[in-house]
Amino acid sequence: MTNKMWGGRFNTGPDEIMEKINASISFDQRLFAQDIAGSIAHATMLGECGIIAKSDVRDIVRGLKAIGDDIDVGRFTFSAALEDIHMNIEAALKDRIGDAAGRLHTARSRNDQVATDFKLYVRDCLDMFDRQLSGLQRELATKALAHADAVMPGFTHLQTAQPVTFGHHLLAYVEMIARDRSRFADARKRLNECPLGTAALAGTSFAIDRTMTANALGFDRPTRNSLDSVADRDFVLETLAAASICAMHLSRFAEELVIWSTPQFGFIRLSDRFTTGSSIMPQKKNPDAAELIRAKPGRILGAFTGLLLVMKGLPLAYSKDMQEDKEPAFDAIDAMSLAISAMTGMAADMEPVTDRMAAAAGAGYSTATDLADWLVRVLAMPFRDAHHVTGSLVAMAENQGVELDALSLDDMQGVEPRITSDVFKVLTPGASAASRRSFGGTAPVNVKREARRWLKNLA
Ligand code: ARG
Repeated sequence: MTNKMWGGRFNTGPDEIMEKINASISFDQRLFAQDIAGSIAHATMLGECGIIAKSDVRDIVRGLKAIGDDIDVGRFTFSAALEDIHMNIEAALKDRIGDAAGRLHTARSRNDQVATDFKLYVRDCLDMFDRQLSGLQRELATKALAHADAVMPGFTHLQTAQPVTFGHHLLAYVEMIARDRSRFADARKRLNECPLGTAALAGTSFAIDRTMTANALGFDRPTRNSLDSVADRDFVLETLAAASICAMHLSRFAEELVIWSTPQFGFIRLSDRFTTGSSIMPQKKNPDAAELIRAKPGRILGAFTGLLLVMKGLPLAYSKDMQEDKEPAFDAIDAMSLAISAMTGMAADMEPVTDRMAAAAGAGYSTATDLADWLVRVLAMPFRDAHHVTGSLVAMAENQGVELDALSLDDMQGVEPRITSDVFKVLTPGASAASRRSFGGTAPVNVKREARRWLKNLA
């Protein structure tokens, strides 16, 4: 049997393997709600413009809504012989309302149809990411406020650098996520032009009103060039690129959770809700959710590079290659959303072990910079000299096997006679963190102010 949608000039049906490579219904059925919304907007516009009869529009709209309900509740049988979601729905419409169904495809093609459906779908996903990410920011800012003065070691090169506060560390991720949200919002702005009515590639001879369909579907305006409209997948690429960066951020946080929850660090505790056990080692509590979030950039960036390679070198306008846009994008979108949800759950779940953090914050001569700064401030030493003196004191402490604040004043004065006991005030991690009140610095007063500002913005 030839295809009942386009089989007019065909004598036989497709080879089995042709049908298999050609059909997209197994995955593009995800677009059913968008396809129906697009068709309703298109039919309504055709009616308003006097291109099809109002009575046909009524039948079409009624039929499409009923099909949507059927698909929703799983009462619809998808057919691979009908290739894709567009033809599955149109064929069902014919079964339901008869010949009027054949008028729906006036002045459009599957090329503008699929571009419209996919834009609507991606737009919903961008909105979903935004909601989810703002939830994650809220969780992090809440924790940051609660632990604004919990001191922990800050790292560079994963070597103890200077004391920071746990709240400040969490707010660093709130900032990263704010940039992610702004990238997604930016992609959404550029996405929001409607391709519907550009038809196969050249536009149409019917006097359609593309602004009407664009408005009905919540687009800002119709796209301006019919060739570009059906050939463009930038909106998917931009979403995947922004998602890759966002997933990279989450993976950095995930890696920190993995490190922090080791017995060696012991900076946080994850509850049984976000850990798993080992089938052989009874003592284990593994941070699997964090590890999986750490891994997600692989598939998300994979989807981005995969689609970029599909699009690279494609001549205008639509080519069937572009059907390969969907599966990886769907997979990446699911992975992104799941990663944000899991990260939000873990952010709420984790509990800092503040005494372990504080103990580690003082180890490894983390207040050496504070000592050097004291020499600069109180003794008016040039910073380079102060750095040198402090280096000698660190070496001395290392020889004695103690931290800086355990050196005697005598020992210190042996290196720099003008040092007084006042110096000991700056050598604790708490004092170090509290002194860093410069704009954007880690001091608890700053962290509280920032956390409150975020919570107000996010409310
Ligand atoms: N299933 C197709 C896709 O996802 C729809 C567009 C098909 N257009 C065509 N001219 N065969 O890309």
